[in-house]
Amino acid sequence: MSGRVQWLEEAVFYEIYPQSFKDTDGDGIGNIRGITEKLPYIKELGCNALWLNPCFESPFGDAGYDVSDYRKVAPRYGTNADLEELFEEAHRLDMHVLLDLVPGHTSWEHPWFKESMKAEKNEYTDRYIWTDSVWDSADGYASLRGISERDGSCVVNFFTHQPALNYGFYKPERPWQQAMDSEGAMASRNAMKEVMEFWLSKGCDGFRVDMAGSLVKNDEDGKGTIALWQDVRRFLDQRFPEAVLVSEWGEPDKSIEGGFHMDFLLHFGPSHYNDLFRCEKPFFGGNGDASVFVKKYLESYEKAAGRGLICIPSGNHDMDRLARTVKDGNAKLAFAFLLSMPGAPFIYYGDEIGMRYVENLTSVEGGYGRTGARSPMQWDRSENAGFSTAPAEKLYIPLDPDEARPDAESQIKDPDSLWNEVRKLIGIRRAHKALMNPGGIEFVCNGAAGKPLAYYRFRDDEKILAVINPGAEEYTLKTELKPGELIYLFGEEPVMRDGAVEVKGRSALFMTI
Ligand code: NOJ
Repeated sequence: MSGRVQWLEEAVFYEIYPQSFKDTDGDGIGNIRGITEKLPYIKELGCNALWLNPCFESPFGDAGYDVSDYRKVAPRYGTNADLEELFEEAHRLDMHVLLDLVPGHTSWEHPWFKESMKAEKNEYTDRYIWTDSVWDSADGYASLRGISERDGSCVVNFFTHQPALNYGFYKPERPWQQAMDSEGAMASRNAMKEVMEFWLSKGCDGFRVDMAGSLVKNDEDGKGTIALWQDVRRFLDQRFPEAVLVSEWGEPDKSIEGGFHMDFLLHFGPSHYNDLFRCEKPFFGGNGDASVFVKKYLESYEKAAGRGLICIPSGNHDMDRLARTVKDGNAKLAFAFLLSMPGAPFIYYGDEIGMRYVENLTSVEGGYGRTGARSPMQWDRSENAGFSTAPAEKLYIPLDPDEARPDAESQIKDPDSLWNEVRKLIGIRRAHKALMNPGGIEFVCNGAAGKPLAYYRFRDDEKILAVINPGAEEYTLKTELKPGELIYLFGEEPVMRDGAVEVKGRSALFMTI
């Protein structure tokens, strides 16, 4: 189990896709200086922590999740010194920064892989997972074949150009499958520890870890991968006890056991997250059903409670924009939920203004269907929405072409905007310890068809009832506790009496009890 990190208890994260956030040098691609310049905007919204998608040297076949040098900022984003300056400025503003660590694979252009492809044995021969012969295609795994002088097939993790690093097999079954404690597997693990040490000593506050649950192979129950991360955590605890780890794993019982502080609920795996936001009839669309989500959430929550946090993101660079399925006022209701749940909230850049999924784009850097959720941030109503001074055709991804596209500047000025609602909600979260990240939760209504989501949040002597009703109908919720002060309301006022609250359709409320 990881130690307690004070700032995490109040953290509200903002995820930045660096390519698309802010370009300060006019080349059409966002950069690190652009992020530093916009820190006051993020702070004004109320977020106090960042997660940056990978910003390291890469051929960008998977938008940077194909690293070719873990210790070097990609020149298109700036320099290592720019990144250090971002850490410093963030800390000065009392903010924290997580980098994206991609430990499962590299780009096939990484020098380690080039060495590993050589016939002659060298330091990197076992850095990746190779079979003994090119005619053995690594049954059960996708593999690269016929591209090396070395005789063998190499296991890939994601796209073809992302060979899997070798962390060993929990149960080796074939001669080429090495054990977790083999020399080659331990060398990969140590190399990744060194990468972490490199950035932590430059001032980063921790990592979001890509595909964290899949490092050890033939590891059905995750036992090997859990043990690996426990070892990494012990290593960090010696030198960087405050280093935060957030996993892309989606199974908090495993990741938190492995020493992660937090795990994401994801749009894949067992979470039913999509029932809320992204399916044919999402709960926040107004006529969906959240009950299976609640059941799954509670299963995870009970396993993780008191030891780590579960993060529910508004979206991320891999899913459709929230605004594609949750429209208008309902986005405010979705944020009332996201910002009143336990665990650190994560807001994907642009979701705070309801940025839309840009339809029908040609894939950019391995984005495919994800490309439409990665378009440039819309800052204002000027040329290129204030993202870049480059000619429009040079932008990394085309902007939302709609003239009525939302933008940050206009929304900041409009008291009824989504931006201002999100800001208000973060402020309320911060002002009430029961609503903050480590506070407890107990559901009183599970959002089954026709019903709202309602839950108590509590910590020490504070208890708050949150009710979120995206449906059109009003609903009478029985509470055995006396209603207190209404600290948040969206929509029409509820009717309150002892023992019951009548909640109007399309409304949300938080009240102390
Ligand atoms: C998950 C990342 O979020 C995604 O963008 C990437 O393509 C894959 N992992 C592979 O690294």
